[in-house]
Amino acid sequence: MNAFQEEQYLLNEVMEGSLNCSHCSILYPIVDGIPRFIPNAFQLFPEFVKKYVKQLDQNGKGSQRLKDFSKTHGATQERFGFEWMNYPGAMDEDFDIFQYETQIDKGQWSGKLVLDGGCGMGRYSRVAHTFGALVIAMDLSGALVRLWDVAKNSERMHLVQGNIMNPPLAPETFDIVYSVGVIHHTPSARESFKQLSNLVKKGGVLSVWVYGAPGSLKNFRTNPLRADRAGLKPWIILVWFIVVVREWLSDLLRLFTIQMPHPLLYALCYPLAALGKIPLIKYLTFSVHPLWRVRLQENFDWLTPPYQSHHTKEELISWYEAEGFTAQKVLPHGFVPKPGVLGVKK
Ligand SMILES: C[S@@+](CC[C@H](N)C(=O)[O-])C[C@H]1O[C@@H](n2cnc3c(N)ncnc32)[C@H](O)[C@@H]1O
Repeated sequence: MNAFQEEQYLLNEVMEGSLNCSHCSILYPIVDGIPRFIPNAFQLFPEFVKKYVKQLDQNGKGSQRLKDFSKTHGATQERFGFEWMNYPGAMDEDFDIFQYETQIDKGQWSGKLVLDGGCGMGRYSRVAHTFGALVIAMDLSGALVRLWDVAKNSERMHLVQGNIMNPPLAPETFDIVYSVGVIHHTPSARESFKQLSNLVKKGGVLSVWVYGAPGSLKNFRTNPLRADRAGLKPWIILVWFIVVVREWLSDLLRLFTIQMPHPLLYALCYPLAALGKIPLIKYLTFSVHPLWRVRLQENFDWLTPPYQSHHTKEELISWYEAEGFTAQKVLPHGFVPKPGVLGVKK
């Protein structure tokens, strides 16, 4: 698009306005071209309030809805917003990681209506868009504004600030819903899963990736990746033990880190990112990525979220079955189990 075309395109977008819900009589603002379906939108955008203050009575400052939202999701929204606004940017590796974690290949996206549930700064929404999908990128935080460079030039990218636990989207709408590393950061991963599954059309696909739990030793031993090592039992037990202890220690550490002001925690993640380069010691940190900026982000990403739950592959598969899906693909476990499942709605 040249500058003139871009201007014409933007003329068709509503850059500022409000959406009034006829069912619930709640007013949601559109700020910078993004509809903000979150109860604290008016707190986040005081300039909008100054301009349109008369219309805001319905979302009064002290409303119970706002209080509940701020208590449950406020810190998640703020801390992830900070994280993703500081992340360096989209990278080449995103293409491979995206296809691996969603288990949906490049050729399967074109022409599909897709929801990225919890897109962060949108690194994977970009990939789905590049593969030809029409993408609705949704996140609780305002960091999705980092996708604006794509959204302003394309009719196939739309941004929504919203909550996957209360999605402002019609049921049974999407060909593909994917959510990478998100639902374990909500107060109930199970409930978030249910809400996302409702948005998938019959015959459509849901792909969800969550943090893994080691589960029982028996379960850990018999996962597909280790079946061929059945003879090496002591090693398997040791690995399982390390994974379990690591999880306990990390939970203990997080009791403190989630209380810290996030800029301070971010500063403390610099030395952790530096340690992530040192052989063996690096495994005491939460990222061994070769790039230090990514290690910084991944350490912070581990230590900052108020909610972080862990799940076994079996648990995730049972959720698919309960919501009327057939689980078709399951990611193999690595040393640390990372469950990712793709299911088709019956
Ligand atoms: C670890 S990040 C993953 C972001 C993205 N999927 C990626 O892999 O780059 C988790 C994201 O989930 C979002 N999130 C957490 N709770 C949410 C909720 N209830 N509704 C929508 N997004 C949520 C956070 O704001 C954050 O951007």
